Amino acid sequence: MRLDELDTPTLFVDLDALEGNLDRFQSYFTSHGIGLRPHIKTHKTLAIAHMQMARGAIGLTCQKLGEAEVMAAGGLFQDILIPYNVMGSQKLDRLTALASWAKLTLGVDSAYTLRGLSEACSRDGVTVGVLIDVDFSGARTGVTSASEAVELGVLAHRLPGLELRGIMGFPTPPEIRPQLQAVLAAFDAAGLPHPTVSGGSTKSALSAHFLPELTEYRAGEYPVGGAGHLYEGRHTVEQCALRVISTVVSRPTPDRMYLDAGSKTLSASLATFRGGPCAGHIVEYPEARIHGFSEEHGHVDISACDRKPEIGERVQVLPVHPCPCVNEHDELVAVRKGRVQAVWPIHARGKIR
Ligand SMILES: Cc1ncc(COP(=O)(O)O)c(C=O)c1O
Repeated sequence: MRLDELDTPTLFVDLDALEGNLDRFQSYFTSHGIGLRPHIKTHKTLAIAHMQMARGAIGLTCQKLGEAEVMAAGGLFQDILIPYNVMGSQKLDRLTALASWAKLTLGVDSAYTLRGLSEACSRDGVTVGVLIDVDFSGARTGVTSASEAVELGVLAHRLPGLELRGIMGFPTPPEIRPQLQAVLAAFDAAGLPHPTVSGGSTKSALSAHFLPELTEYRAGEYPVGGAGHLYEGRHTVEQCALRVISTVVSRPTPDRMYLDAGSKTLSASLATFRGGPCAGHIVEYPEARIHGFSEEHGHVDISACDRKPEIGERVQVLPVHPCPCVNEHDELVAVRKGRVQAVWPIHARGKIR
């Protein structure tokens, strides 16, 4: 079957572009001696995770335990990092079951999480690794000082069922180097081991070598890009592998048109690019602006287009945020040179627990 014979809207990945991105990033990390630990939260798909491992990834990152269960069941149980505070008896029971046959490391930023993990692991006779989550840029979770990182490191080092493996941060642009060095120096002064120093985010992935302290890097979006990566110059249009094929279903005025891809197809992610809201990029009409959506419609301003798309015309849309876009779909169609080569189930979609 050909891409232009598929019903719309359909999510697909261009295999040439995908493989090019996988090779490009893997060779960058290999050449700098930093382990690449892809984050599967973007594609949520076993086939792509296997491609990443086959190219030399050192292991996987899964944001939620449910994603880790899917990857492990799919044969990728050798080394999984869950950079998330896992807590609560329901999850801890599942975690120790998984840890009995898969190698797991968890990101932790509180004594509460550490104690919960330790109690469950020692009760069930398993060990999990721990990275102390450090917030270097005020972005999200993570302890905010070297002294707190050491305090948690000391606790992780002495609690049963846990193995302190180092530290992690997100995101880790080059500017955070002084704070990173301060935390590592504090760990050294306290005699704490840090064989793993884990950085992350696609935005600064190709600057990881400016942080020579990093031993590994977690990147999620690099295999597929997206509208943001396009506008910020990290991926070309050709390198943006993840696309939604969509049909123009209405064009009520010369300046407005509506696609059959709304928030249930592209996700409800809206970013600000090129001076306004952006929900995606139309490959064939780069001057058009998808500025909003309803559930089943993409709302497009076409006032800047010299040539206007016709009703019934099919276009390719690059989502603004690939991860939640993939999460809206059951299947990912893999296409090479316009031909459908595979239909991959998105097994880890919706794994919020
Ligand atoms: C903890 C963590 N590490 C790594 C990543 C990957 O970042 P990106 O999607 O920018 O590649 C994410 C993404 O949200 C994350 O939350």
